[in-house]
Amino acid sequence: MVLSRSEAEAHPLRQPAASTASASGRQPEPLREGCLRRTERVYIRRVRGSDRSSLIEIARRGQPFHHPWIRPPMSRRSFKQYLCRTSKPDAEGLVCCLCKTGEIAGVFNLNNIVRGSLLTAFVAYYANPSLLGKGYMTEGLKLSVEHAFLCLGLHRLEAMVQPDNTRSRALVERCGFRHEGVAKDYQYIEGSWRDHERWAIVAKKSDKEGFKAISWSER
Ligand SMILES: CC(C)(COP(=O)(O)OP(=O)(O)OC[C@H]1O[C@@H](n2cnc3c(N)ncnc32)[C@H](O)[C@@H]1OP(=O)(O)O)[C@@H](O)C(=O)NCCC(=O)NCCS
Repeated sequence: MVLSRSEAEAHPLRQPAASTASASGRQPEPLREGCLRRTERVYIRRVRGSDRSSLIEIARRGQPFHHPWIRPPMSRRSFKQYLCRTSKPDAEGLVCCLCKTGEIAGVFNLNNIVRGSLLTAFVAYYANPSLLGKGYMTEGLKLSVEHAFLCLGLHRLEAMVQPDNTRSRALVERCGFRHEGVAKDYQYIEGSWRDHERWAIVAKKSDKEGFKAISWSER
């Protein structure tokens, strides 16, 4: 099943979970504009132009921490290019925000979306350095995977991780990605070709339901 973006928008599984009282008995925060999927603490939505100053600020403050793993847009110009790139059919830019305040906890980009018989994409991500180590990125990545499989109709997501990026490796592992091997000399970064570990997660197809939400315990 391959969904165009407009079909995906109308897909019933795209709708965020119903806003009912949680297991803890607390009422969840009301749904925020553009929410694609949510947990009790965070939700994901598409990146938009009004995120420019927050994301540039996150990129600037996060530089010592994001370097040398990722290079998020740090100027108005590069942010504009990023928005332009993620508005095309082969990319999706998602931000993961706190339900309580709307603050951006991190970014997930689905890059190089290939349809046809592959239905695959690469996911890249980075956290707001003020909100690290709280599990928000774990929840955000799980939501992004569900979005990719249930709303975009993708079958496979890959994350390319440098071998000494322990936090990134821990993140994909926690979210059910499997280590598939090492891509030698995969990417040219700061003067040398770097090996990357290839981590992937694949949608489970059930005959009855088509692509269904992945159950982490079933993997
Ligand atoms: C990779 C990156 C996104 C991971 O961020 P993170 O803050 O470690 O991820 P989380 O928000 O899920 O936090 C996980 C931590 O919160 C803890 N945690 C606390 N509450 C939690 C909860 N409710 N659920 C899950 N984990 C929770 C986990 O135990 C874990 O702790 P640890 O760091 O001691 O192991 C971040 O390190 C980053 O931005 N790195 C730079 C950019 C980068 O490397 N990008 C990837 C390129 S491949």
